[in-house]
Amino acid sequence: MTIHAVIFDLDGVIVSTDEYHYQAWQQIADEEGISFDRRINERLRGVSRMESLEIILRQAPRSYSETEKLGLAHRKNEYYRQLLNRLTPGDILPGVMAMLAAIKRRQVKTAIGSSSRNTPTILEKIGLADAFDAIADGNQIARSKPDPEVFLLAADKLGISPENCAVVEDAEAGIEAALRAGMRAVGVGSAAHCPQAHIRASAIADLDVDELLA
Ligand code: BG6
Ligand code: MG
Repeated sequence: MTIHAVIFDLDGVIVSTDEYHYQAWQQIADEEGISFDRRINERLRGVSRMESLEIILRQAPRSYSETEKLGLAHRKNEYYRQLLNRLTPGDILPGVMAMLAAIKRRQVKTAIGSSSRNTPTILEKIGLADAFDAIADGNQIARSKPDPEVFLLAADKLGISPENCAVVEDAEAGIEAALRAGMRAVGVGSAAHCPQAHIRASAIADLDVDELLA
């Protein structure tokens, strides 16, 4: 299948905000006396805020009411947004700008497909608010990855069939979502060793654009 569009995940692919998500959840876990570490954090990649909280609370010594859960998710987002305040275009991950330019030169479309409700803020902060042909994010979907909804929405906004789209992801849940959407799945970062991915690279900087689009 020819690739006419590349859909990028945001956190951990375009910018290292995955680290800020981890730090904010670690702070919540520490304050609540819940055991949490980077290994558990891997399961939160690509997953929505409330579903991430549910995963963290599996280690909690007590149960939390729905109101308390909403409070914790809100507090986490406050901590996270404080960290986002520091973001600048200098935080764009290595190779991203060159990859976007190379894709555009080949007249292939680009989109963001992210579970994050903070997508507009982040793109604004790193100066990429107008860099993509379409944006599908956590504010526009009912089900987060591994559900394919966000990628199918991005393809729909671009007017391109799912089988002509490639997805670049750092999350196992994102690779699964791409496959369920019928798209080519490219694993980078934490998804670089994901056996189901069609293409794997340790980082975007190591991806070959022609292999990605071939
Ligand atoms: C994804 C992250 O991009 O967005 C997840 O990989 C995060 O870790 C999810 O939980 C939701 O983010 P937000 O910004 O809406 O809390
Ligand atoms: Mg990600």
